[in-house]
Amino acid sequence: MRNGCFITFEGSDGCGKSTQAKLLAEYLTSMDYEVVLTREPGGTPLAENIRQVILTPTAETLHPMTEILLYAASRAQHVEELIKPALAAGKVVICDRFIDSSLAYQGYGLGRDLQMVSEINLAAVGAVLPDLTIVIDITVEEALERAISRSGQIQDRIESRDLQFHQRVRQGFLELAKDNPRMKVLEASGKSIEQIHSEVINQVQPVISSNKANF
Ligand code: TYD
Repeated sequence: MRNGCFITFEGSDGCGKSTQAKLLAEYLTSMDYEVVLTREPGGTPLAENIRQVILTPTAETLHPMTEILLYAASRAQHVEELIKPALAAGKVVICDRFIDSSLAYQGYGLGRDLQMVSEINLAAVGAVLPDLTIVIDITVEEALERAISRSGQIQDRIESRDLQFHQRVRQGFLELAKDNPRMKVLEASGKSIEQIHSEVINQVQPVISSNKANF
């Protein structure tokens, strides 16, 4: 049985979602909610091992289907091992990226069949879908500049893809949000971390309140 509340953050590399996920976790903890802050790919030791396989550049090409399945495998492990039990225990789970990243990156970005990516991922997560997904939207140029300055010269396999790839990913998130009431887009260009944080809280409050009976 599911009791808790599941909130995910999505957006381009370097959009600031990890900072916002952390701030939200601190805020909700200060409000006495039991919070689990986690991320994808990863979130459990085994899923973090899969993350290393996906993101570490190697001489051998990571083929698109392998990539899709590895993200989905990491996600299935994460859901079963960490997310489901936490929700069943009535906790608020905040996850930095989830299923929409696969649709945006592997579907829109890599141009793989969206239906196929969606079906594989729905099989991976079962019935566990977010109550709220916050998409932090900034321009690709701004996002990549931040992603690269944060990690120095070393880019992971995904960050090193071309600008057009990242444009398709951004558009992908916006397209997904159009058809999906659980996804809320926050326009973040030119805004301070604090400003975005208060917009995040505005989105989270009604969702948490409607789940209140469960806490
Ligand atoms: P992340 O650690 O969130 O990187 P960043 O903090 O730079 O945004 O995610 C690592 C990379 O994995 C990121 O480039 C997006 C990519 N990714 C996918 O392509 N598909 C997925 O399903 C997930 C979860 C991540």
